Amino acid sequence: MSACPTLTTERLILRPFEESDLDAYTAIVTSPEVRAALHLPDGFSRADAWIDMAKWLGQWELRGTGQWAVVDKSGGTLLGRAGLNLPERPDWPGIEVGWTMDPKQWGHGYANEAATCAVEYGFDVVGADGLFSVILPENTRSIAVAMRLGFTFVEERVMAHFSEMPHGIWRRGRDEWQPWPERPAVRKPSPSGR
Ligand SMILES: CC(C)(COP(=O)(O)OP(=O)(O)OC[C@H]1O[C@@H](n2cnc3c(N)ncnc32)[C@H](O)[C@@H]1OP(=O)(O)O)[C@@H](O)C(=O)NCCC(=O)NCCS
Repeated sequence: MSACPTLTTERLILRPFEESDLDAYTAIVTSPEVRAALHLPDGFSRADAWIDMAKWLGQWELRGTGQWAVVDKSGGTLLGRAGLNLPERPDWPGIEVGWTMDPKQWGHGYANEAATCAVEYGFDVVGADGLFSVILPENTRSIAVAMRLGFTFVEERVMAHFSEMPHGIWRRGRDEWQPWPERPAVRKPSPSGR
């Protein structure tokens, strides 16, 4: 069984990546909008997308953090990915909440809904004291997601893995968070995952 739990929200299923996601995931991460926002190289390929999916599954196994495949509950379409990220980088601020959605699906609040679930999981299950988001200042859509989730700007930091420009570090503390069950929009994991 995967260390990555399956959770549901009002409109979404958050589940481990599966081999069958590869076509749809490749289309998302090779879209011009996502490539530009994440500064992925022009040659970012299906093989790179597969490695990315495997990386998220691996992080769940090794660290108990990772991003979920975010799927539309009604139609089963892969909408993107979202979740927690704790990479092995000395200058990383802590457990990050991250999100990337299919550009065709932007503007429906899916990133917000999935990330809300990730924040709850980060505080209530992983037990983080604070959660971070690491966002380039040019990425206004991502900053808007962070702000809607109650993250506040901490500082700009030039990260070793991306020296071209500083990232903004955003944080939300545990003490600003209402744990389950006060937030009924997200259901706790159940054995069936539904
Ligand atoms: C960052 C990213 C995930 C944001 O996607 P998004 O769809 O704009 O974000 P949300 O899911 O929060 O949706 C917000 C929009 O949905 C609208 N919305 C519609 N229904 C909604 C609902 N039920 N709940 C909340 N918002 C809703 C909001 O009003 C808002 O509209 P706006 O774009 O006109 O302001 C997306 O731009 C992306 O994938 N970017 C590329 C990858 C990337 O940059 N990742 C982050 C790296 S730091």
